[in-house]
Amino acid sequence: MPKAWLFLHPVGKLLFREGEAMKILVTGANGQLGKTIGRCFMEDDLVLTDINSLDITKETVVFEAIQVIKPDVIINCAAYTDVDKCEKNQSQAYEVNARGVHNLALGASKIGCELVHISTDYVFDGKGIVENGKRRPYQEMDQVNPKTIYGKTKLLGEQFLQETIENYYLIRTAWLYGDGFNFIKRILMQGYSNETVSVVTDQIGTPTSTDQLARLIKVLLKEKSYGSYHGSCEGSCTRYEYARAIFDRMGINKSIEPITSKDLKQLARRPSYSVLENKRLNEKGIFKFNHWEEALVEYLEELKTL
Ligand SMILES: NC(=O)c1ccc[n+]([C@@H]2O[C@H](COP(=O)([O-])OP(=O)(O)OC[C@H]3O[C@@H](n4cnc5c(N)ncnc54)[C@H](OP(=O)(O)O)[C@@H]3O)[C@@H](O)[C@H]2O)c1
Repeated sequence: MPKAWLFLHPVGKLLFREGEAMKILVTGANGQLGKTIGRCFMEDDLVLTDINSLDITKETVVFEAIQVIKPDVIINCAAYTDVDKCEKNQSQAYEVNARGVHNLALGASKIGCELVHISTDYVFDGKGIVENGKRRPYQEMDQVNPKTIYGKTKLLGEQFLQETIENYYLIRTAWLYGDGFNFIKRILMQGYSNETVSVVTDQIGTPTSTDQLARLIKVLLKEKSYGSYHGSCEGSCTRYEYARAIFDRMGINKSIEPITSKDLKQLARRPSYSVLENKRLNEKGIFKFNHWEEALVEYLEELKTL
């Protein structure tokens, strides 16, 4: 019995892959998403790397690694994600979020492997799209206009990817949490301490779990549905509502002081509205994200068992 079952489209295009163990090179494997990918793709042949073993900014090292490993797919989880530090270390942000992606795309194109890359809601300016006097979430084809160095360098990464190879999966996601330190853990630490907890009411987005995102990546790879997607959980909330939901679900009876972004005095001004609509995914009908509250409950239940 063959391990892989391949279905060919009448024009000869490979469309579907099932039961086939893939060789997957994961970059940034110690990050939140990287760790989840390591857990969710265990049946595949995984090569997990992080900055110490594969620094994606080093072009020659990247090319050599890809030539030697010969992966079927690269999942790029590496990024410079500290939005405020990006403002201070602009060249490093560019090297990792833009040049690093270019290196991976060039390396992938040399051997014809696929590349999964993750981008962000911060490529948008935070005004949303106003239609007939009403604001709606951002769709894949809407005008980008990043306001932060993080958003600008991530957008350049998207452009390098799209210009360099055809067999890519580009997923813009938002407010990601998973196996690592994140907003949820920070809020919980504050909740269990004597500190006053203050959270902004003027940032609206969609918390998204790395578990949900990894499930989407699995489906896209199986379907070979190349292209650009928005991939975040369903629904939306303010950061304040997000924090409140975390406390309520964990039984933390503590008040949260509502504040605005100006009070935080952060170097990078976050978009005030960065809700993504998973338009292409919904049109294709290949994957439906859970509502953010459902994914959050699942995550918090897991946290309780640790
Ligand atoms: N977190 C969010 O809220 C969010 C929202 C939207 C989109 N995204 C995107 O989703 C993806 C995954 O995010 P995440 O939250 O999992 O990020 P993360 O936890 O910060 O992980 C990123 C990983 O990349 C590593 N890295 C940094 N520079 C590298 C380099 N030059 N070569 C190789 N590895 C390097 C980091 O190592 P060190 O820790 O040692 O630096 C870290 O392990 C990223 O593309 C991010 O832009 C994230």
